[in-house]
Amino acid sequence: MSKKLKNLSEDEAARKIKALRQEIEAHNYSYYTLDKPEVTDAEYDRLMRSLVALEEEYPALITPDSPTQRVGARPLDTFGQVRHTLPMLSLANAFSVEEAAKFDERIKKILKLPADYLMEYAAEPKMDGLAVELVYEDGTLTRASTRGDGVSGEDVTENIRTIKSIPQDLRAAGAKRGGAVPPLLEARGEVIMPLSGFKKLNKEREASGEALFANPRNAAAGALRQLDPAVTASRRLDIYFYGVGIVEGVDFKTHMESLQFLRAMGLKFNPYARIIKGLDEVYAYFEEIREKRETLDYELDGTVIKVNDLSLQTRLGQTARSPKWALAYKFAPMQEQTLLLRIDVSVGRTGALTPVAILEPVELAGVTVGRATLHNEDEVLRKDVRPGDTVIIERAGDVIPEVVCVATSPQERAAPFTMPDKCPVCASPVEKTGAIHYCIAGLGCPAQLKKSIEHFCSKKALDITGLGAKAVENFVDKGLLKDVAGIYELTKEKILSLGEGWAELSASNLLASIEASKKPPLASFIFALGIKGVGERTASVLARRFRSIETLMEAELPELLDLSDIGPLIAPGIKEFFSEERNRAVIDKLRAAGLRPLPPPESEGVLKGKTFLFTGALSTISREEAKRLVQSAGGDTASSVSKRLNYLVVGEKPGSKLKKAREMHVTILTEEEFLSMVKKSVAVD
Ligand code: IVH
Repeated sequence: MSKKLKNLSEDEAARKIKALRQEIEAHNYSYYTLDKPEVTDAEYDRLMRSLVALEEEYPALITPDSPTQRVGARPLDTFGQVRHTLPMLSLANAFSVEEAAKFDERIKKILKLPADYLMEYAAEPKMDGLAVELVYEDGTLTRASTRGDGVSGEDVTENIRTIKSIPQDLRAAGAKRGGAVPPLLEARGEVIMPLSGFKKLNKEREASGEALFANPRNAAAGALRQLDPAVTASRRLDIYFYGVGIVEGVDFKTHMESLQFLRAMGLKFNPYARIIKGLDEVYAYFEEIREKRETLDYELDGTVIKVNDLSLQTRLGQTARSPKWALAYKFAPMQEQTLLLRIDVSVGRTGALTPVAILEPVELAGVTVGRATLHNEDEVLRKDVRPGDTVIIERAGDVIPEVVCVATSPQERAAPFTMPDKCPVCASPVEKTGAIHYCIAGLGCPAQLKKSIEHFCSKKALDITGLGAKAVENFVDKGLLKDVAGIYELTKEKILSLGEGWAELSASNLLASIEASKKPPLASFIFALGIKGVGERTASVLARRFRSIETLMEAELPELLDLSDIGPLIAPGIKEFFSEERNRAVIDKLRAAGLRPLPPPESEGVLKGKTFLFTGALSTISREEAKRLVQSAGGDTASSVSKRLNYLVVGEKPGSKLKKAREMHVTILTEEEFLSMVKKSVAVD
């Protein structure tokens, strides 16, 4: 190929490059903005590769707006300043129904409309990221800046170019709708970091000992303010546009028209934006978005209500800070202040001791919070929180509430926190490994015993229904369960002797579920044992390599270290677990009770070496069943989209994994395709 390219004249190469870029930009638009890809991933790759090859031959023709440059241009020394043509204003806030009503009332008063008039609003989610302005001249992205102080912001053009949903050139989309692009378009929007990316980023930072980002907004701001655009590119940001600055040559009558125009140009707005009428719909919209919020892969902090008619907006005008025609109607804050009553220490399944803040109960985003995690001793000392202090607590999305910092403390403070040197549950000695303190009693500690039994019975382990946290607590406290093997010695009499709501039927159901758990896949059994560091994936790797619990029990360290997914941190833990007399005795008892884990299929299976991930609801089988099918056919399951993943199986209402998988060119399967693939492979076995 490169030989042929060399024969091109510079002019021909330039023409070819231009055509390829336009074609790629058009596909980016269909894919990222319309969510309707028009070519296969392979075809897209082919175009991209041709462009890369051409640009390599003719480096002088590389321009920063080429789709190949999204991986990030050269690092900068410092950010330039950009003055916004029109100031980027802020929004007036409302936190209650009353404040929202006042806004609606005030507007009608200024406009001399009757009090019962149903005002038309454009309603949008208020995204929690950071505001940017993009300037397109004759369709080409020439400048992008942060809001800054509203008058001028920082030049983040090169970083903005790395965001995949931002077109470098509007002509691709403009051409599609058969219209011309305006000579000047200033588009404003919110750059966000999806929650999935945020969690992943913090996990990586934790692993490498870097400071964690407090929330996705800070992480997005951090990513956008990188001097090296390659770092921004690796952080996978996204953007939703919510308005325009100056647009030459186009007249809009309403705000919604301006959003639709942006979309036609390839600049997407939030899919939940729509027109509503009157105050009741303002409330209903707010409730709707508040519910939606839990399901979205990005954070919202409220809704924004804007008078839709632009001529009315002009009549309403603005203050120095914010327009009078718009309102940020916000959710109750996710941060609150409350009194720290004391610090308890809880003991987890692996014996890890976690300091827990016991708080004066406070309402936080609709949930009453009385406890928050303090992670470990170092964290408590670093934040220097002590009983009697007023602390700031935070709940981000579905994350457990945590203590962020001390807000105020009394003149006379309590003594600094220290970790107890004895387990608060069983009084056994405590040992520190890394940042974590552990109770050394293992299953001899009732707290660890209860949590281990719960884990053993959980869905992904032996899937015994009827033995949840409360039931297990009862069985252990009454001395009916001393280890997991005791589950198989339960009789109807023993269960009924507990009282506590147990009756004939529930007892028989529990016994039936226990009986049904006696032939688990080996991987589920290994996972159920609760070996430190052995999650679902590692358990399945071990099952495939050792094929029986007896062989695994005798495995030597080098054999364990040989396995691709088992590192030097986990392998010694596995060895240690199986050399403990107590653990060996429990496994013997389980065998004696009739437990017979099933090894993965003998043959290699058609799915060997293939990794699957599921998203959305499957209609004919449960997700757990689907995972087991994969494993029994010799395949692997993953928990997130990565380069390692071969197939994403998509059920109903798929989540953000689908988009990510497409971006990474992972093969997408429907449930039907998946099932026929598994059946084939099982039949072959
Ligand atoms: S409109 C003059 N719409 O909220 C009105 N802003 O508190 C300009 N934001 O700086 C803003 N989602 O960063 C608007 N749908 C939305 C928004 C939104 C998030 C942010 C934006 C702005 C801040 C104001």
